[in-house]
Amino acid sequence: EKGQSLKGKHFVVTSGGTREPIDPVRFISNASSGKQGTAIAQSLLDRGAKVSFIYGASDVPPPPGADAIAVGSAQEMYEAVHQALPAEGAIFCAAVADWRPKQAGREKIKKQAGATDAPSIEMVLNPDILKSVAQLEGAARPQLVVGFAAETENLVDHARAKRQRKGCDWLLANDVSPEMGTFGGDQNKITFFRSDAPEEWDTMSKKDVADKLADAIATTFKGS
Ligand code: PMT
Repeated sequence: EKGQSLKGKHFVVTSGGTREPIDPVRFISNASSGKQGTAIAQSLLDRGAKVSFIYGASDVPPPPGADAIAVGSAQEMYEAVHQALPAEGAIFCAAVADWRPKQAGREKIKKQAGATDAPSIEMVLNPDILKSVAQLEGAARPQLVVGFAAETENLVDHARAKRQRKGCDWLLANDVSPEMGTFGGDQNKITFFRSDAPEEWDTMSKKDVADKLADAIATTFKGS
């Protein structure tokens, strides 16, 4: 029974891919479909939670019933997340660009007639949204901060180090090598960290991942 186990609790959930503008018509992004993040928001809503759903480019609509805020770039996502706080929990499923073009041209970059070379794009670091929330202090910090780790090699070691570095409480690592079909697909294979000890979940639908996570969250908040 999902019931109302998270009634009265507020969660911030990020989902989808950010788009980092190069000029008014071009951007750098990734293949996130938003399916996993949307499923997580839905599972929290199903348990009675209030959800602020902050989403970038997605193939699926935001879940009905969420307070949904559409954003473009990582910087916009950062602002929207911090505006949506405080919350009891925050789950960072968005595929956020680590870097953005230093200058987003106001006008479309023109291809010069007869040019044989191509422009180089200088990149700068984006803010780390998850880390910025995990490092908040006192009442400003959600009690439970959950990150994801998208890895293509050495998943357990990289994910364990990422959890430490970002300061999140729980972390869900997934293999995003193209043959896994994690980006855009309907299935996911999670290695779950509540501590340094990895817990292997079977391959399951993104909905089942979301339900399993939401049940773990509900257990954690039981009685609080
Ligand atoms: O959207 P789908 O097609 O359903 O695919 C789901 C998914 C593969 C995108 C998802 O399960 C997933 O792995 N999301 C995290 C993608 C990612 O950006 O991973 P990362 O290892 O680069 O980042 C680690 C964590 O920091 C993530 O929680 C990320 O949201 C967060 N982050 C990263 C960079 C940044 N500037 N700010 C962040 O908050």
